[in-house]
Amino acid sequence: QTDIYILAIESSCDDTAAAILHNSKALSNIVATQHIHEAYGGVVPELASRAHQQNIVPLVHQALTEANIDKKQLSAIAFTRGPGLLGSLLVGTSFAKSLSMGLGVPLIEVNHMEAHILSHFLKDDDRDPPTFPFLAMTISGGHTQIVLVKDYFDMEVLGETLDDAVGEAFDKSAKLLGLPYPGGPLIDKYAKDGDPDKYRFPIPKVDGLDFSFSGLKTSVLYFLQRETAKDPGFVEKERDNICASLQKTIVEILMKKLSKAVDDYGITQVALAGGVAANSGIRNALKTAELERGWKAYIPPFEYCTDNAAMIGIVGYFKYLDNRFSDLKTPAKARYTI
Ligand code: KG4
Ligand code: ZN
Repeated sequence: QTDIYILAIESSCDDTAAAILHNSKALSNIVATQHIHEAYGGVVPELASRAHQQNIVPLVHQALTEANIDKKQLSAIAFTRGPGLLGSLLVGTSFAKSLSMGLGVPLIEVNHMEAHILSHFLKDDDRDPPTFPFLAMTISGGHTQIVLVKDYFDMEVLGETLDDAVGEAFDKSAKLLGLPYPGGPLIDKYAKDGDPDKYRFPIPKVDGLDFSFSGLKTSVLYFLQRETAKDPGFVEKERDNICASLQKTIVEILMKKLSKAVDDYGITQVALAGGVAANSGIRNALKTAELERGWKAYIPPFEYCTDNAAMIGIVGYFKYLDNRFSDLKTPAKARYTI
């Protein structure tokens, strides 16, 4: 069979997403971002699952319409089984099972973290996928992980965060600076006009390839408290310099561990995924590593970096080829390692 059509559903956090793939190419890839959480400065799980519930049916309709295919053409339904917020996962899982039963097509469970990595294999005329083995660093509001990718379904987590995700470090620091949620992109923006060497924030000492970001947030808090006590207008005056210094520190933390992984494993092919891969600091650091250290860096387009359903679909496609189907009883799994 050469024409495989997969409907993919992603609902692990606060984005409801649906995509249609024709083999390894995304015909449609739609995300409904839930803006309701902005007022709370972070994702409220109960509100997220309610919004998924409202979004999911119209979103799947839209994905089918944009792909210009009929649901009867679908070969399988792929869905995110985990990891994520359980209430959110339940919506996508239940919907995928019902549709699979209703249409009489197979069901395929997908691990969200594997999907971030395999998003690099979504067909795109402008770039080539990495070849095995490669190192993948998944950096977002929910994850910070370095993975050794030996094959499509042979991956090993080499290191991960022991506390906050790197995106949280951006967002929580941004909140302390009075910026709206999610503040990561704003820190990136203001950093461009600031002096990255004006302030110093500590680099955490963590063994091996693991990360820790909670200390950074605390040091930003104390730093701002100390400075605003001296000058109440400090944040306003120094915003760009603080953002630039903070971003420099975060990029340094990421690059230190990534470089260690490259050295430890002797693999210079490095792939980024996750929303923080949009950060200009980390992108520039990788470009420099390509030029100066002979690395080869892979960064997918932004719509495949942030949470999306096309990445769920590509895993679905590879599993379909491998006859790896799931039972209708498969439960959602909030904690689900690669
Ligand atoms: O992958 P994503 O959309 O959702 C998950 O968290 O899974 O990632 C969102 C995260 C947020 O923390 C956001 O602040 C961060 O990615 N982010 C950025 C940038 N763009 C998005 N952080 C720093 N610089 C950026 N340009
Ligand atoms: Zn994600």
